[in-house]
Amino acid sequence: MAETTNHEDGRRPVVVVDNLHVDYKVMATGRKTFAGAYKLFDRRARGVRTVSALKGVSFTAYENESIGIIGSNGSGKSTLMRAIVGLTPATKGAVYASSRPNLLGVGAALLKELSGEKNVTLGGLALGFSKKEVEEKYDEIVSFSGLGEFMELPMRTYSSGMSARLKFAIATSKEHEILIVDEALSVGDKDFQKRSEERIRGIREKAGTVFLVSHSMRSIRDTCNRVIWINKGELKMDGDAKDVIEAYEQSK
Ligand SMILES: Nc1ncnc2c1ncn2[C@@H]1O[C@H](COP(=O)(O)OP(=O)(O)OP(=O)(O)O)[C@@H](O)[C@H]1O
Ligand SMILES: [Mg+2]
Repeated sequence: MAETTNHEDGRRPVVVVDNLHVDYKVMATGRKTFAGAYKLFDRRARGVRTVSALKGVSFTAYENESIGIIGSNGSGKSTLMRAIVGLTPATKGAVYASSRPNLLGVGAALLKELSGEKNVTLGGLALGFSKKEVEEKYDEIVSFSGLGEFMELPMRTYSSGMSARLKFAIATSKEHEILIVDEALSVGDKDFQKRSEERIRGIREKAGTVFLVSHSMRSIRDTCNRVIWINKGELKMDGDAKDVIEAYEQSK
């Protein structure tokens, strides 16, 4: 059957984002300016400032969708993902989800001082596995991460790509109904990116819903059937992956 962006075909909605607004209150320190020989703060620029990161975003995600989230730096993608998970409160509007979404990397509360091996246990327990289940999954997690000989070393000695691989391997060892991946793939090397994209497709095939935030249009094109373009806090375009990526690339 051909891929379609027709969402009125009876599929179950899993995430509904309804007129979502998110404001951040930020303390501005004020600009440093020279006044005569003295370095002074420009008092007028100091104080609480409001950053409107999302300004009324609405869409519905259905089961079995893999949705790419694209947009330039600071457009509000991570804010949107954090709001979907419930880490960032809505200033106005709401997010409804059929089950608790998992944000990759946050669910697995890993500790840098502990070995990779201990962190697999820790992350597994944080995901809700029993000790026995973690033991059963251990080999598979290590083999997917490709970090075999490093598992006994503390995680603080890992490169950022290695940490990301382990987190991704732990987080995706569980079957997710709703999985959110924010940039996690971009730090892995080519080979690992390929394997993690394969995993994302696997989750989607099991009727799960995946959100993938990435600046790599190749990753998005290879993994997602639908793309949402966020621009300056607003939903600019939502539709077929190919069309949205094309429009986004033409806008640059
Ligand atoms: N914790 C925060 N406190 C204050 N402002 C924030 C916070 N997090 C994000 N912002 C602001 O909200 C806006 C959107 O940021 P966000 O991190 O959602 O962008 P993004 O699309 O994920 O960008 P990138 O592609 O660089 O990851 C930016 O203007 C940013 O400065
Ligand atoms: Mg971001």
